Amino acid sequence: MHRHMTKHPILWSLVSALLLFMLITAGLYAKLSEPLPPSALPKGHAPDIANGKILYTAGGCISCHRGIGPDVDKPAGGRKLKVPGDTLIPPNITPDRDTGIGNWTPLQFLTAMKRGLAPDGAHYIPAFPYTSYAWMTASDILDLFAYLQTLPAVRNKVERKPFRLGRFALAFWQWLALPRGEFRPVPGKSAQWNRGAYLVLGPGHCGECHTPRNAIMLLNRARWLAGGPHPVEKGSVPSLRGLIRRKRFKDAEDIYNALKYGEALGYEDISSGGMGEVQENISKLPDADIRAIATYLASLE
Ligand code: HEC
Ligand code: HEC
Repeated sequence: MHRHMTKHPILWSLVSALLLFMLITAGLYAKLSEPLPPSALPKGHAPDIANGKILYTAGGCISCHRGIGPDVDKPAGGRKLKVPGDTLIPPNITPDRDTGIGNWTPLQFLTAMKRGLAPDGAHYIPAFPYTSYAWMTASDILDLFAYLQTLPAVRNKVERKPFRLGRFALAFWQWLALPRGEFRPVPGKSAQWNRGAYLVLGPGHCGECHTPRNAIMLLNRARWLAGGPHPVEKGSVPSLRGLIRRKRFKDAEDIYNALKYGEALGYEDISSGGMGEVQENISKLPDADIRAIATYLASLE
């Protein structure tokens, strides 16, 4: 054995390098598949269901998780969703104990939203926009979970689909794509601006469509909200930068009206290609939140 090794030093170092690489990969994969520790739960948090409903609305959960037939207004899953290169069926997130998330603990929900990880350790496909939801505060996510638990439970089993490149690969992609912390208000900006920035970045996940991606589908942060090709349909998603300078809108009030009333007030540029449903959800938010989003967007140069 020893003689063999010294005879093929290059081969041997290649084999050891490969083994070392596999060991590191396996270790990293195990680390990336760990759920959040219980210390991630905010201490003594009393869930605020009304706030949870606001986040459910801002997050547009219903747009993807909508049920079929009589369950169309409940997040019972089952409808097809086109994603880049595939079609998925978003699962049932009503509190049904067998087919929904009625058995989940708050920590499991937090782990799904912040890490893109299922209770059984599977890595979620980023069509579930956890790369944005991960910016949300833990207490907001727990409020959202509490709100979901108040919805009627619907029995509807949705099987999880395999991912083309293997869910294993998703672990490493998530490592690159997930934010390292949660949203922190920007000092020197108003509370209203920060609220808008939070809603756009986190729950509203506006960047998932309005920010261009690089070759491995990571959001190009340098071109934040600058528009780009539509992720699934033909055509492109417009830029949200310089909306006023480019005379797309008159001022923040004009953006507010577009988000609140959409097509009904003749704002047709906000009604197709996925934005129609987004606008419908946003229009149901408290006025102060719609204004906050408009204020933030108006400030983007
Ligand atoms: C753009 C579409 C989309 C939106 C918006 C969306 N989801 Fe999902 N969600 C999905 C898809 C697709 C999956 C399945 C992912 C997979 O199979 O890897 C999923 C999975 C989940 C799961 C895992 C359920 C399970 O049984 O494992 C939870 C929990 C969830 N979403 C919660 C939410 C919440 C809460 C919101 C709103 C804040 C939301 N989702 C918004 C598409 C979406
Ligand atoms: C599912 C993809 C998607 C998401 C998510 C999304 N948008 Fe859009 N948005 C679009 C598309 C596509 C258009 C162009 C629509 C059209 O021409 O009818 C658009 C248009 C707009 C416009 C009009 C821009 C102009 O120049 O007329 C505004 C403002 C806007 N979006 C704001 C937002 C905000 C705020 C969010 C997050 C709360 C958001 N969008 C999330 C796809 C999306």
